[in-house]
Amino acid sequence: MDRIEKSKEKERPYIICHMLTSLDGKIIGEYLIEERAAYFRDLYEKIHDRYGGKAWMCGRVTMEEHFTFGNQLDLKEKNIPPIPRTDYVANTDTKTYAVAVDPSGKLGWTKNYITDDYGLGDHIIEVLTEQVSDVYLAHLQKLGISYIFGGKERLNFTVVVEKLKSLFSIDQLMLEGGGFLNGSLLNERLIDELSLILVPIADGASNSVTLFETSSFLTNQHPVNFFLKEVEKLDDGGLWLKYVTKRD
Ligand SMILES: NC(=O)c1ccc[n+]([C@@H]2O[C@H](COP(=O)([O-])OP(=O)(O)OC[C@H]3O[C@@H](n4cnc5c(N)ncnc54)[C@H](OP(=O)(O)O)[C@@H]3O)[C@@H](O)[C@H]2O)c1
Repeated sequence: MDRIEKSKEKERPYIICHMLTSLDGKIIGEYLIEERAAYFRDLYEKIHDRYGGKAWMCGRVTMEEHFTFGNQLDLKEKNIPPIPRTDYVANTDTKTYAVAVDPSGKLGWTKNYITDDYGLGDHIIEVLTEQVSDVYLAHLQKLGISYIFGGKERLNFTVVVEKLKSLFSIDQLMLEGGGFLNGSLLNERLIDELSLILVPIADGASNSVTLFETSSFLTNQHPVNFFLKEVEKLDDGGLWLKYVTKRD
């Protein structure tokens, strides 16, 4: 039985954190605009496709940077009736999902899917806390975006990923940054596998985000052991490292 088969027996998806870093562990920085880095960035997408699976997840900052491009919604509508804080599964026959961790509802979506150049589109699932406004929920419903609640004021990712499995039958989840989101799932011991593309450039900046960051409210962050499963030499001195958190 392979890992995904095994995860079908679990209450939650099998979670693969798929990331690209510099030699000094930075996930963003000027090293990414070096000419050499283009090959690795392209490979990152190819490996994502190779994993397949029906869902990937990113934090609000990453989604804003790459998919909503900072779009701010003008949600001034008045007289919105209170909307119950219950999960909303939009009526869709989509088979693939983009999961956006957006606790207070900041992302300026204008449609209910994300497309690449080839696919039909990944249906958006927003992960919210109950602090989100009614007007934002009304906006999501109007666009046909699904949403789930992960807590009253703070997100509990164990609850979140269990809902992804029970409501959307997601058996494998690609966790794709940024560092604060990765750190949150690491903190709850939810990462099963790490797929790391190591770019042979040291960024050198002291203040950029690394692979796993700790939000100020996460107080119980402990070291997590990873065990090497596979290593592949890439062209131009890069490495693709695959680690798991449980020994076979
Ligand atoms: N190299 C790579 O492979 C790779 C992959 C993905 C992203 N990136 C880069 O990573 C950068 C962003 O990383 P980041 O770490 O700053 O941001 P991020 O993880 O994308 O998003 C952080 C935000 O997500 C929400 N969030 C995350 N954890 C939470 C928790 N436990 N509870 C509640 N909310 C939580 C919060 O939203 P609110 O602020 O709204 O509360 C938080 O500010 C981008 O520049 C992106 O390009 C790189």
